[in-house]
Formats: sequence, C-alpha cells, structure tokens
Amino acid sequence: MNVNGRHYRTIWIEPSTEVLTIVDQAVLPHRFQTRELFSVEDVARAIRDMHVRGAGLIGATAAYGMWVAARAAARADPGGFRAQMRAAADTLRATRPTASNLAWALERMERALNGQSGPGAVAAARREAEAIADEDAEFCRRIGRHGLGLIEALARDRGGRPVHILTHCNAGWLAFVDYGSALAPVYAAHDAGIAVHVWVDETRPRNQGAALTAWELGRHGVPHDLVADNAGGHLMQHGMVDMVITGADRVTRRGDAANKIGTYLKALAARDNQVPFYVALPSSTLDFSLRDGVAEIPIEERDPAEVRMVDGETGDGRLERVRICPDSTPARNWAFDVTPGRLITGLITERGLCPATEEGVLSLYPEARV
Ligand code: MRU
Repeated sequence: MNVNGRHYRTIWIEPSTEVLTIVDQAVLPHRFQTRELFSVEDVARAIRDMHVRGAGLIGATAAYGMWVAARAAARADPGGFRAQMRAAADTLRATRPTASNLAWALERMERALNGQSGPGAVAAARREAEAIADEDAEFCRRIGRHGLGLIEALARDRGGRPVHILTHCNAGWLAFVDYGSALAPVYAAHDAGIAVHVWVDETRPRNQGAALTAWELGRHGVPHDLVADNAGGHLMQHGMVDMVITGADRVTRRGDAANKIGTYLKALAARDNQVPFYVALPSSTLDFSLRDGVAEIPIEERDPAEVRMVDGETGDGRLERVRICPDSTPARNWAFDVTPGRLITGLITERGLCPATEEGVLSLYPEARV
C-alpha cells in the first residue's frame, strides 16, 4: 500500500540497516510509525502485543523472527545453533494460538533449515522468510482477482449502483504482507472503476475495524462508513448490505472458519436475510488436520483489560487508554469465534472460489486428500 507517496509492505528487512522493520499497528490510525525488531524477544513481543497482527502477517513475522534467531545463533556450534533455533520457534509459537499461519510458517522455516547451521543456515532462513512474505502478497493479490468477479456480478445486478459490502475486523493490507484477503477484492473492484461502499464494523475490543480498516480504506479512497458492531443485523434487514466478506484466522478442511469475535453473529444475520457471506483466505490459513472448527480450533483468550479499557487520541493529540466500566468489574476476552461452513456462501482463496465444505476445499487443494 502507498503511504505518504511510498509503497510499504507491513514487514521488511530495511536494506540500509539490515534490520527487521514493521509498520507499528499499535499506534494506528493516530500515528504512522515503523518499529525495528532486533531480537527474537522483540519479534515475539510485537506479535503478542499486536504491533503486528492478522493471520498472514503473524505468519510472515514469525518466519522473519527465525531469520533474526539464526543471525543471533550464527557463531554457535551445530548443536548449540539447533538448540537456539528450537527455543526461538517455541517462543514464537507460544505468542498467539488461533491463526494457523503461525505454526505453518514455523514448520516451513524448519524444513528450509533442514538441520543446517552457521552462515549457510542464516542465508537459508532469510531466503525462506522472504519467500513466505512474497507468497503471502502474491496469494492475496490472486484472492483479489477471484473475489472481483463476485463484486462485478453484484454491480451488474444493481445496474451500476454502489455495491455495499460489510466487513468485520481488519483483513486488509495490514493483516498480511500486502493487499489483504477480505479487502483485496474490494480494492480490485475500486481500482477497476466499480462503485463499492464498505460498512466497517468497529470490532471491539481492539477496534481493528475503526482503527485499521477505516484507515486503510480511507488511504485507498474507498467510500466507507464506520458502524457499531451491533449494527450489521439492522443494515441487512433493511437491504443495505449486498454481501459480507470477512477474513479468517484458521479454516478447517470442511470449511469452518475462525475469525475475529463477532463474525459468527454476522453470519447468522446474513443467513436470516439471504445476504451472501464470503470468507477470504490464503491456503496458509487452512488447517487440513481439523474438521469441526467449533470443537477443535483453539480460541485465544486475551487480557480482560482490552474489554475494560479503550485506546484513543485526546483532543490535544495524546494517545490515552481509558476505562469504560466500574473499576471493580471483571471481564472475559475471547478474541475469535468460529462460523460453521454451513453459514458460509463460499471461500475465496488464491486458487479460486469453492463451497465451504470438505469436498469444496479438497476440490481446490486435492493434495490434502488422504
Ligand atoms: O487479533 P487479530 O487482529 O490478529 O485478528 C485477526 C484479524 O484481524 C481478523 O480475525 C481477520 O479477519 C483475519 S486475519 C486475516
């Protein structure tokens, strides 16, 4: 995405310093800042505290984290090198449990290292992390192309009147290395001259919709309105939503999709109002080892402080955190829920569209048949 006239990915190795660098999402939309990550602990903290977030970007960050670990361990003997890399992978794996991209990226890094150590392993780690980042961006670009056809069809049905798309959380450029998943078709349609308008769910408790999706869409010039999380059902009942597109953090082989908490309620409202509900994801988000998403996908429970407090900018430009409930009120904070495949109209992947069923998923990914 272009910011202040420069094209940025969300993560990169800065050529002049060779330092791993990210767009710091913890201060958006109020500040556009980058942040340097020097150690595996820095990388783990960035993931855990959501300076980077979103399934694809979490995976790419973990991959680059293994390169950071390899550089730090380069002078160790082969046994020491491997022990340090195992410890780094364990630290990174423990940061966030729901997005399958994290474990997927770490496994890919392990395969690429293939027991090597020393400078050869550092070079291999860098090559593989860059390959994962490039693939993430390219797969999202393809998701945009495949989803564009759906929006074009709706635009034709509507005789050129704007297509109204509701999205929940942030599955845009900021959730990946570039382009995004749910927002990639929106950007592709907008760039193709199709009139689109996005209803942006604010996405409590971390407000990724208000802070990140609204910011991205604004920068790209896509018309949008921020709505309270609970507005979606009302909008659908009144014919104000033509389709829903969300991202996903983990999708099982039969198409059950974990996404930001509140997604399931949007899917129920969409089904009740015959609004098509699509989930966009790259294959790195598919977990072929699971079938029943509700029973099997691990759901992250985060610090209750995120529910009890809200971050924002004061009138005089200070970033502040304020409490919105009585001081003594306890809270619980589940970060994701699971939408069963039966409520999903279709999956949009880098290989095309498919029904959210085991047959549908395997028709696009036959290599996962066992
Ligand atoms: O907690 P986050 O911000 O890392 O949550 C991930 C998300 O942004 C959403 O669930 C998103 O729709 C899927 S990530 C591509």
